[in-house]
Amino acid sequence: MRWDYPGVTTAAIYAEFAARDARGVSPAYERLAIAVSRDGELLARLGTLPPAKRQPNLLFGVVRFLGGPVGDPSAFHDYAVTNWPAIEEQLRGRATQTNEAGRCAVLLPVLAALPQPVALLDVGASAGLCLYPDRYTYRYGDHQIGSGQPVLDCAVTGMGPPAARPEVVWRAGLDLNPLDITDPVDFAWLDALIWPEHAHRRARLRAAAALAAAEPPLLARGDLVDDLPALAAQAPAAATLVVFHTSVLYQVPPSRREAFARVVRRLPGHWISNEVPDVLAYDTLPAPPDRALRNVLALDGIPLAWTRPHGQEIIWFG
Ligand SMILES: C[S@@+](CC[C@H](N)C(=O)[O-])C[C@H]1O[C@@H](n2cnc3c(N)ncnc32)[C@H](O)[C@@H]1O
Repeated sequence: MRWDYPGVTTAAIYAEFAARDARGVSPAYERLAIAVSRDGELLARLGTLPPAKRQPNLLFGVVRFLGGPVGDPSAFHDYAVTNWPAIEEQLRGRATQTNEAGRCAVLLPVLAALPQPVALLDVGASAGLCLYPDRYTYRYGDHQIGSGQPVLDCAVTGMGPPAARPEVVWRAGLDLNPLDITDPVDFAWLDALIWPEHAHRRARLRAAAALAAAEPPLLARGDLVDDLPALAAQAPAAATLVVFHTSVLYQVPPSRREAFARVVRRLPGHWISNEVPDVLAYDTLPAPPDRALRNVLALDGIPLAWTRPHGQEIIWFG
């Protein structure tokens, strides 16, 4: 969900979030978003914040982080009004950094098809949980790859599942604000960002965090345009460098997205993007299958498939 279009009201953003992001995915957040879209008092308070700080995922995550109620819109309203100073402080100080290991399930088919071994550089890595595609277990329908936890389930249409996991010899992440998966407060924030009904995603976060804590990635603090070349230069030359990013560019201003695409195209190796359709320029995209929110999976700027935001589905282009 983009929130930075000029002239788009906060009420419209919440209504759109209810209809596109939350419907069929989180009944609690759909109810809350509809309620906030009609709640003059909360909309006025949100209106005092910069646009990026008004977005539904951030507000709902902050209220969950603080222990507030998200199941009942009226209890949510009362909590938010009573606790607004604490909520505002968190809204101003935090950003949505959801780190969804499940997204590896949509990256895997592309990663596995590249020359091995690979050196992975995750741009906008959050806590780096997407840097372990070789360690997770995958279930594409009844085809399982690997064993152990977490198991990433993904429905695939239009092509068979990958045969194997990639061989990863180097993993590094770049983020404006890298999170430390072993830090209880960072972990609590990542947990609060998971939508209320998604117990399976909470279990997945715990399992992926345990795996990452045992072999922490190199996580660098920096900007995806200014600091990418220096980090990429640290990758071992004998491996295929794969720069990838999932659900990041919607947080980046348009001019910086273009600058990023120019920088990444100049690097050796390959570039995998998994982003909402309107943040990168494609020659052509097929019509989306429905109104649900989807990402476009692309290799070296060539769009390949629609994917669902938490990695639960791939629909390959024909
Ligand atoms: C929604 S999270 C996605 C995290 C991860 N890619 C995933 O899919 O699980 C977006 C991340 O991008 C980072 N980010 C946003 N703008 C950035 C920039 N200009 N440079 C580096 N990281 C950035 C944020 O800090 C955040 O951690």
